[in-house]
Amino acid sequence: MPSREFYTMPTLRLVVAAPADVQADVVVVPVPSEGTVPALPDGLTAAIGALRDGKELKGEPFEMHWLRADELASPRVLLLGAGSGASMSTDVARRLGTTAGLAARSRGQGHVAVLASGALQAEEHVRALAEGLTLAAFHVDAYKTKDRKLADLQSAAIVVSEGAASTLADAVALGGVLGEATNVARAVAHEPPNVLTPAVLAERAVELFAGTPVSVEVLDEAALRDKQMGLLLGVAQGSVNAPRMIVLTYEPDANRESGVGSRESQDAPAAAPVLGLVGKAVTFDTGGISIKPADNMDRMKYDMCGGAAVLGAFHALARVGAPCKVIGVIPSVENMPSGTAFRPGDVLTGASGLTVEITNTDAEGRLILGDALWYARQLGATHLVDIATLTGACAVALGRVASGLFGTPDTWRDAVREAGTRGGDFLWPLPMTDDYKELLKSDIADMVNAAGTRYGGAISAAIFLKAFAGDAAWAHLDIAGTAWADEPKPYQPKGPTGVAVRTLIELARSAGSWA
Ligand code: BES
Ligand code: MN
Ligand code: ZN
Repeated sequence: MPSREFYTMPTLRLVVAAPADVQADVVVVPVPSEGTVPALPDGLTAAIGALRDGKELKGEPFEMHWLRADELASPRVLLLGAGSGASMSTDVARRLGTTAGLAARSRGQGHVAVLASGALQAEEHVRALAEGLTLAAFHVDAYKTKDRKLADLQSAAIVVSEGAASTLADAVALGGVLGEATNVARAVAHEPPNVLTPAVLAERAVELFAGTPVSVEVLDEAALRDKQMGLLLGVAQGSVNAPRMIVLTYEPDANRESGVGSRESQDAPAAAPVLGLVGKAVTFDTGGISIKPADNMDRMKYDMCGGAAVLGAFHALARVGAPCKVIGVIPSVENMPSGTAFRPGDVLTGASGLTVEITNTDAEGRLILGDALWYARQLGATHLVDIATLTGACAVALGRVASGLFGTPDTWRDAVREAGTRGGDFLWPLPMTDDYKELLKSDIADMVNAAGTRYGGAISAAIFLKAFAGDAAWAHLDIAGTAWADEPKPYQPKGPTGVAVRTLIELARSAGSWA
């Protein structure tokens, strides 16, 4: 089956113009809940004033009101509530961008222009608007052959007034890169599991990075056997779709970025940091012999969102670079029940030599990540982050809002958290003390793979992973609750969210501050 087009990149532009002169299908006017609206032709200003006086438009975030626009070069105006100017943030700006883009598309309009004035004209808000507009180009119904609901988003302009900072065009371009990287992850995540097997995922990675500064190596089943990755192979053995391990490498260009750790100093130079990004890519998780219930099992095609996030992050690194070396390791398997499947009771030996007693074949993500974390360290990673749709327990604890964050040392965990804040991913730290370790005690092997209790399920999973991180700085993001949107919002359609992509990009690009 040919691969489908999940998004086309809209033409993104920064436009310096008076609102009346902007050419688009719709001009989006953000309306704050207090304070002044941008300077507009008189009739429009009066119309907005009347709506506000009549409390028909309060300016609350994502409120929408459409008008015909006789005084503008564009035929229509969308008044879009923007909240109070004082509380403008990159998160709100990004969501305004996506809301504007999706609203235009839902009315069959492919050319949108957003007026950025006041607080929205700040560089980081313009960047976030561009990001959000790009996110709006994603379509969730790429497999529909007819009755597609939304028009393609062909162009998006961010309109600023004369005298705006000259750096804003760069901010728009960077927003486009970040948004597209997120869409890359969402597109892979949205492929059905019959199409996206581990082998196909690996081919996609090769295609994605052909001709870029990112190199791709794919370990097939024979290579994995050679490396004695018994945890990953144990999960994979029940499926006819053979496993893969995708390895991505980005080396900073010495001429473009100053290499962190290579700066001159009197002392012996510190070893250069190597960031290792490890993403769970279970292309379908039935649970294996410990099979899952039928309800919503189709969702388990998104059990590869961690791996997709790593691919998305590298897509941006290939274009805008980072000051440190970055390695990506994506272990990919399908978890199936069959006559050849691994079973509860089996003991697996991973590449690190640790032995694991299988108590539940549905706790497969931690097994493949165990071998992958170990491998990332073999490849020289000094700072690890793994990303995984790992536990239902994490979704129970934090809902669909925050992703679970674990890590050690605290400074590294906090660096990841701050990168998340900058990137627009809300990460919330969960505890991980030695007292939890007994949850994974095995009578016959080094550890069990699944604790005997559901209590603290996100934490026991994290404790398991830590055993494979050795002495490297390590952080773990559990995105089980956040990788998929169940309820559509004005700024997020139902479907894959691309969570963690921008956290990883921010982290790599800010290596100077944590290394
Ligand atoms: N992929 C699932 C986790 C998951 C569950 C993600 C729901 C998104 C939504 C993972 O492989 C899994 O099955 N985890 C088990 C672990 C348990 C058997 C210890 C879980 O969460 O129930
Ligand atoms: Mn599972
Ligand atoms: Zn899983």
